[in-house]
Amino acid sequence: MRAGIIGSGAYVPKKIISNFDLEKIVDTSNQWISERTGILYRRKADDNICSSDLGAEAAKIALKNANLNPEDIDLIIAASSSPDRIFPATACLIQNKIGAKNAAAFDIQAACTGFIYAVTTAAQYISTGLYKNILVVGCEVLSKITDFKDRNTCVLFGDGAGAVILSEVDYGGIITNILGADGSGSELLELPAGGTSEPASFDTVKERKHYIKMRGCEVFKFAVRVLEDCTRKIAEKANVSLKDIDYIIPHQANIRIIEAAIKRLEYPCERVVVNLNKYGNMSSASIPVALHEAYQTGKIKRGHKIILVGFGAGLTWGANLIEWTL
Ligand code: UT7
Repeated sequence: MRAGIIGSGAYVPKKIISNFDLEKIVDTSNQWISERTGILYRRKADDNICSSDLGAEAAKIALKNANLNPEDIDLIIAASSSPDRIFPATACLIQNKIGAKNAAAFDIQAACTGFIYAVTTAAQYISTGLYKNILVVGCEVLSKITDFKDRNTCVLFGDGAGAVILSEVDYGGIITNILGADGSGSELLELPAGGTSEPASFDTVKERKHYIKMRGCEVFKFAVRVLEDCTRKIAEKANVSLKDIDYIIPHQANIRIIEAAIKRLEYPCERVVVNLNKYGNMSSASIPVALHEAYQTGKIKRGHKIILVGFGAGLTWGANLIEWTL
């Protein structure tokens, strides 16, 4: 049995933060941010909103587009780098918020690659026949774990959520997947405190260790390498030439990362989906939001072959090759 995407949804908060707004908070400029990253705007959730709230909104849209009711969902897999709490799982909170009372629910932690890991996992449950309808959500309120005193990171991230429903399909579907990890690079991108290695204390708060820390330059080089590698490898694995891939939807961290990898792949840049100019890096939500928008705006059509490819903290990376069902 082949799993395929039968509905998608996306939700971003209304509040827009421009580069000019950030100029007033840290020592930065619109010129630096736009030239070095390609980001112009990002969204910011209100103080009372958390990741499961955005995830639930995206999930409701995906359910509607899939013509399913919340009770039809058998399993929810949520991916988030900014979960509501360490536990319970954000997937359980989404389950409650949308009323998916028949669903099992758990989270996957693979940072910005979380959505790719979650889709890959969901596809296995469908192909074994264990579950029929699975909701996969990538949701982030990164603004609450971003240090707005650190210009190296605070210009990059944004809030939002994307969701898809996977079911058995008789046309198209997920053709193959690739996942990878290298824990030796775990310190390149992390949120140091609040877990069991450095529990929350007055010192961890004083040292701002509850915010994202990143060694940007090293992550940049890793990202270009795995974006190229992973895209090439998944096409080879599926025995498909990159010429026959209609769209590549990469993780949206930095336009320079995407352009460098796409140039190495000799792939036409007009067939790469980019939305980071509007939303910045939404970690696990970047790819599903870009996918949903590309389908809604008529770019992606039935029968198109698309590659979703991501990378992130862990370090982790991965890709899904999909023949579009809808
Ligand atoms: O989704 C998770 C994965 N994350 C990523 O993929 C992010 C990967 N990394 C990047 O995208 C880039 O490395 C950054 C955008 C984070 C940084 O760009 P860069 O071209 O690598 O800049 P840099 O870190 O080498 O810094 C160059 C200069 C430095 O000043 P000096 O030392 O040359 O005087 C920085 O202090 O730019 C300075 N700088 C800034 N200036 C103005 C760093 N951030 C800013 C800023 N505004 N926001």
